[in-house]
Amino acid sequence: MSTQASMSKVTTAIIRTMKKKGEKIAMLTAYDYPTALIVDEAGVDIILVGDSLGMVVLGYDSTLPVTMDEMIHHTKAVSRAVKRAMVIGDMPFMSYQVSEEDALYNAARFLQEAGAQGVKLEGGREVAEITRRITSAGIPVMGHLGLTPQSVHQFGGYKVQGKEDASAKKIMEDAKILEEAGVFSLVLECVPATLAKDVSESLVIPTIGIGGGVHCDGQVLVLHDMLGMFEKFIPKFVKTYAKLNVQMKESVQQYIDEVKRSVFPEKKHSF
Ligand code: KIV
Repeated sequence: MSTQASMSKVTTAIIRTMKKKGEKIAMLTAYDYPTALIVDEAGVDIILVGDSLGMVVLGYDSTLPVTMDEMIHHTKAVSRAVKRAMVIGDMPFMSYQVSEEDALYNAARFLQEAGAQGVKLEGGREVAEITRRITSAGIPVMGHLGLTPQSVHQFGGYKVQGKEDASAKKIMEDAKILEEAGVFSLVLECVPATLAKDVSESLVIPTIGIGGGVHCDGQVLVLHDMLGMFEKFIPKFVKTYAKLNVQMKESVQQYIDEVKRSVFPEKKHSF
């Protein structure tokens, strides 16, 4: 039976085995109870409560303003819905950079308060020690390299990373450092497909691409992007599988029209 068909809870061991078997990992974001229910029932392997929450749900211009309390609030809602997928909480900006104690405390909140099974944090060698500390406390950590949106101001925009030899070499080195530090999987965002392929082949742990090409061991997209619910900015790597914003707007317009014309409610909606 494929992992997707099985109803047992997805674990880090299952994620590692999927790479060994050549079975692709499907990951999506979710931020609330009803969408997490749908995404989990559809059979996704990992649900990331991403700090993209800030942009696609809370209306911020970047992920930087997102707080730990906001992440915990949304992760709790997702965890209440999910039966099968592994739920990963995304550690927001400054929740792991200030001190190791802070990082450990905040990572633990995702498991203890919010019901997640692991955390994700952005960065390479600079977060290796923190990663070691968190994993040695029994908390699975997912790494994130390439375009790490919390560093948008350092990058000077949302740009493809690892195009030059030196930056590609650094991403490869960082990937190996993170693997050695104990991450169970690694997101590769907006890097050339050839680099993502090389990194994926060099690691035992699975890579999960977003704008990293087809050779990653899995893929992730932001749910609101792939469902066509967030059109402020559509990155090249997004495939839009639905146009829910259109459907939602048309439904609301129809409702307004029917209320104005006294077409709704009908007898069957009345007591
Ligand atoms: O915040 C997020 O949704 C992410 C994914 C894009 C990987 O970090």
